[in-house]
Amino acid sequence: MHKTISQCGERLQFDLIIIGSGIAGLCCALELLKLRANTKIALISKGKLSESNTYYAQGGIAAAQSSEDVNRHIADTLSAGDGLCKEEAVTAIVSQGSLSIQYLIDQGVPFDRDAHHQLMQAQEAGHSTRRIYHVGDQTGAAIIEALTKQLKQFSQVTLFEEHTAVNLITQIVPHQPGKFPEVVGVYVLSEKTERIHTFLSQAVVLATGGAGKVYRYTSNPNIATGDGVAMAYRAGARVSGLEFYQFHPTLFYHPKINNFLISEALRGEGAYLRSPTSGVRFMQHYAPQKMELATRDVVARAIFCEIEKSIYNYVFLDIRHKEKTFLQQRFPMIYRTLLSVGIDMSRDLIPVVPAAHYMGGGVLTDFYGTTDLSRLYAIGETAFTGLHGANRLASNSLLEGVVMGRHVAKICCGALNTPLVLTQGMRDWDSASVVDLRRASQINVHWRGLRGEMSAYAGIIRTEAGLRDQLKLIIARREMIEDYYWRYTITRDLIELRNIILIAELIVRSAINRRESRGGHYREDFAEKIQNMQASILKISEFNTTE
Ligand code: FAD
Ligand code: SIN
Repeated sequence: MHKTISQCGERLQFDLIIIGSGIAGLCCALELLKLRANTKIALISKGKLSESNTYYAQGGIAAAQSSEDVNRHIADTLSAGDGLCKEEAVTAIVSQGSLSIQYLIDQGVPFDRDAHHQLMQAQEAGHSTRRIYHVGDQTGAAIIEALTKQLKQFSQVTLFEEHTAVNLITQIVPHQPGKFPEVVGVYVLSEKTERIHTFLSQAVVLATGGAGKVYRYTSNPNIATGDGVAMAYRAGARVSGLEFYQFHPTLFYHPKINNFLISEALRGEGAYLRSPTSGVRFMQHYAPQKMELATRDVVARAIFCEIEKSIYNYVFLDIRHKEKTFLQQRFPMIYRTLLSVGIDMSRDLIPVVPAAHYMGGGVLTDFYGTTDLSRLYAIGETAFTGLHGANRLASNSLLEGVVMGRHVAKICCGALNTPLVLTQGMRDWDSASVVDLRRASQINVHWRGLRGEMSAYAGIIRTEAGLRDQLKLIIARREMIEDYYWRYTITRDLIELRNIILIAELIVRSAINRRESRGGHYREDFAEKIQNMQASILKISEFNTTE
């Protein structure tokens, strides 16, 4: 006999709800408190506050200091973006580099300095000069620690750790028939009590990060399930550029350590890639000029091809030619982590595999974070501003997070100063759900199946036939998952699975539509680039989601 429970929780009212405590969400909250001190903010995070893509960022944050370098940084970003960047967004965001570094320093981020107390800058692939600011190889953790410390001083902010946003609450605005709905709040699951609360607010900011968990190998932590994009899309907002999932070339390949990135900065400091079969360097066959410092898509594809040719699941990264003391100082966390499983990077080769790293597409916004829906904003990795185009330049996303987080704070003041009129009675979560343990265990099987299939059919190299097969698999799985969602008790795992299957579908549909190869999207059957192509845009009415 299955037990029936009601998950209905409390109703809470805020001025602003920020979903996500990565760099974008935290910068937004801090800036808003500066502009509008009495704003009552709810900041929500799945799991612990620090658990985010931001926390694991290693390489650093890209920022040009001089006006000449701003121009070069813009050119590098446009070149990586492969014809699909929005120049307006690139200029607006890149030109804030120097100010953003100063802002982070003011918040307490201890960027590395040399013996003369000058800020140090590192090199990464695709950058024409050294302009990456870092804190050892744990830049993200240092940023999160500093920003969180600042935020905790403000009593106006209520932190909801271990709370998962389930869905946006919307209403139709009567005097705007046929227009996009207005967002008035969010249903939020408490991971501990399993109650679903109704959070109402004047505005909602999605800062929910990426969706790396849609693929088998990913550098992202478990929170990265595309929830913000899925919620916005279901509510009617357009999404864009989702075919451009960026694969990082070098995730550590080891049975005991998952999702551990080996920073691009190693290649920036001269690391080589070697074939697992012959031990010989292979990048001259794929990018004879830039070799290991070619853009990520080129390097990831080269590694993928080498793996396919071999009997191994990995290739080797080799930095044995650098001094041990240099490696220990420059990459302390990577050095220690590898050593914990018996790999001394000053003597041993490092097995690596390409992995889903950055969601190039997202909720369509301008560079202020404005979405199609009124009172809904999206920032950071969840947004598609057009900064990255078809391929993100390394270390540009932390910069985007700071700039957009601060920008959106100014913009959403408008919504906060305009009273919200509820046009209908808001309903609290009203299901009497059934606890079904068998369904809970079956969710794991869907996760494993979907991630493996996405890697095989919609990963680094794609074909029309493979993508169409994948769409059929997704549709079959989606039907079962929707059924679980509507009939059984809602858990974080189920919410994430429901979101990730939608993200998978959006990636595959976008990839089918793009019959060319560009940036992070490579079609073996359409290897050429076509002139005048734009970023793909999907909206919910365009296809029948129950197809
Ligand atoms: P995140 O930092 O991912 O934060 C997302 C937040 O949303 C989390 O708090 C999460 O709990 C919350 N959330 C998600 N869904 C829900 C929900 N349903 N309900 C409640 N909360 C939710 N970029 C660089 O520029 N430089 C680098 O060196 C670099 N290195 C990287 C290394 C790694 C290993 C990874 C994974 C990424 C790296 N990136 C780097 C990319 C960069 O870190 C991210 O793009 C950026 O930090 C994203 O910030 P964000 O604030 O948008 O999202
Ligand atoms: C890295 O350190 O290799 C990641 C940098 C990035 O993703 O921008």
